[in-house]
Amino acid sequence: KVLEENQLIQIHEKTSELYHHILMNTQIGEKALQYLLDRGLTEEVIRTFQIGFAPRDRSLLSKVLEKENFSEELLRKSGLLFQMDNGDWLDRFYQRIMFPITNYQGKIIGFSGRILEDETFDSTDQPKYLNSPETELFNKRFILFNFNQARSEIRKKNEVILFEGFMDVISAWMSGVKNGVASMGTSLTVDQIRALEKVSEDCLISYDGDNAGIEATNRAIDLIASESTMSIQIVSIPDKMDPDDYRKKYGNDSLKELIKNNRDTVFQFKKEYLKRGKNIQVEADKLEYIDELLQEVSNISSIVEADLALTQLAEEFNLSKSTLQNELRTKKQHYK
Ligand code: CTP
Ligand code: MN
Ligand code: MN
Ligand code: MN
Ligand code: MN
Repeated sequence: KVLEENQLIQIHEKTSELYHHILMNTQIGEKALQYLLDRGLTEEVIRTFQIGFAPRDRSLLSKVLEKENFSEELLRKSGLLFQMDNGDWLDRFYQRIMFPITNYQGKIIGFSGRILEDETFDSTDQPKYLNSPETELFNKRFILFNFNQARSEIRKKNEVILFEGFMDVISAWMSGVKNGVASMGTSLTVDQIRALEKVSEDCLISYDGDNAGIEATNRAIDLIASESTMSIQIVSIPDKMDPDDYRKKYGNDSLKELIKNNRDTVFQFKKEYLKRGKNIQVEADKLEYIDELLQEVSNISSIVEADLALTQLAEEFNLSKSTLQNELRTKKQHYK
């Protein structure tokens, strides 16, 4: 069992070396390398993340791994190749920029591949990102991209930053923010939260600024708050951009600055979030909004922060603070 796991890791390490070599040193990797450089990555960061390229030829990895002494069963289990009815092997990943995914010990156990758009290749029906299939070794719900490399910085700062995409984590890294991780293209899981709260008391969420990202932020907040005692702050990215877009647009240091200086509390986020789809000029909407916000105030554990929130609400809606306090007291009994 352990032997098999080690061999699967070996297969992944070999595959990653191959893809990385193709990207950095060969002609078939040229366009992919240029694409990454155009996106603002440096060769240094490409090496740090061992990014690679799986070329269009779907027999390449198969041929290389066939020469090694891995059993067919093991090759199948790796999820990197599969066998057709005629017995020929096919590579799972092709025409993709490859991001190796490591476990919490830093061993490569899977990949995520981003399609490389190319006018000579029809990628219409291809997903933008393709992951390794779930295997005994590769359980997406336990995995966080970059967790192994980020762990010491997370511990040092006592703070972790959640991003949506791999490119956001890498962009932040280049901007000097090295405590970023991302879940594997799925929404955040309780298992990932468990892993994070072992090394950090504070959690920052910096998902994409588009609608999907804002919804995902809201879900992540609620899950983290109910499943852990980590404190939560939100870094919103303006103009529907994602963190990587932001760095590309405003320069390398901009993302670091934004993450440092542009943090919202959960309450501030909820104030914006709950306003969506409501017309506060309409009495019914306004009452519902105040009601929902009071519920959020009742979730705030810091007494000072809760008091500040009530002051804000009182001013914004021209109500007396004692009215809100009374309402909150009644509500708290109601919630129990
Ligand atoms: N994702 C996925 N499958 C897709 C699209 C997205 O698994 N078809 C996951 C990937 O992990 C991706 C993350 O969701 O990194 C965020 O998606 P998105 O914002 O669409 O991608 P970006 O990370 O912004 O990718 P890029 O900048 O390369 O376009
Ligand atoms: Mn997105
Ligand atoms: Mn809590
Ligand atoms: Mn994105
Ligand atoms: Mn992006």
